[in-house]
Amino acid sequence: MTTQPARAPQRQFGRLAASYRDSKTHARGGSLVSAAAFLSPRRYGVAVDVGAGPGFSAFAVAGQCGRVIATDVTPEMLEQARSLRTERGAPGTELALAAAESLPFCDGSVDLIVCRTAAHHFLNVDAWLAESARILAPDGELILIDTVSPDDPEAAAWMHEIEVWRDPSHARNLPADEWVEAARRAGLRVVESGLSRVDLEYPDWTERAGMAEDEAARLGRALAGAPPSAREAFGIAPEESGAVRFFWPILAMKAVKPQAAPAPQPETEQGGTQ
Ligand SMILES: C[S@@+](CC[C@H](N)C(=O)[O-])C[C@H]1O[C@@H](n2cnc3c(N)ncnc32)[C@H](O)[C@@H]1O
Repeated sequence: MTTQPARAPQRQFGRLAASYRDSKTHARGGSLVSAAAFLSPRRYGVAVDVGAGPGFSAFAVAGQCGRVIATDVTPEMLEQARSLRTERGAPGTELALAAAESLPFCDGSVDLIVCRTAAHHFLNVDAWLAESARILAPDGELILIDTVSPDDPEAAAWMHEIEVWRDPSHARNLPADEWVEAARRAGLRVVESGLSRVDLEYPDWTERAGMAEDEAARLGRALAGAPPSAREAFGIAPEESGAVRFFWPILAMKAVKPQAAPAPQPETEQGGTQ
């Protein structure tokens, strides 16, 4: 279950849009490569990036798509995408202000959905996946990349506490197997998935979230003094300079909307099918 975050994403990301535009982790991170690597060797008609932020995933897939639309709930993020799209080689990228749970596209009209490091902010993952299944055309693909919680319950609870502390608009990191299960529940077929990690570093990580200095310093100390289960799960390595290196686990998952099941055939008088 996801509890209501203390801060709306628009409030968190509205004031931070420019720092995300310049974030090395987001602009060039390895998960952009995974998103592109999961593309099928085909040309997509319409692609939608959900929770697009400054549009990096939209730009990464644009070359293989007829149309690409970057969507987000935060207008300031879409403004960043607008100003970046030409220098990122995707000047035709369209923009739409939309929540993941209510996407303004017709049934079966989208061939590709990408969603990178945004879904841990969604309040209702089932509603988002149901929307994705609705708007995808048969054989349409969903590529999800997101931080996930580890199996160890103590490390998972610690991760949640740290995430919400740093960013009050954080909702929940699901475990990887819950994502696969949720996609199946929405009627999508998971065809590929894999775990990797995103390397992070305090204080860069807290600065990007716009934390007040004293609060960030307290969080830095909590990172450095993490319990052994968290140290192990996230490779936490405090440095003499005060910096702390660590990583979050990342799930990359590709799911496909199956062709509609064939309509059941009426029985003939002999009991066979026509
Ligand atoms: C960490 S940024 C990631 C941006 C981008 N996908 C990337 O990989 O760089 C998360 C984005 O999700 C957006 N967001 C949060 N909740 C959302 C929702 N329910 N629907 C759509 N976008 C949402 C935020 O406004 C923010 O721009």
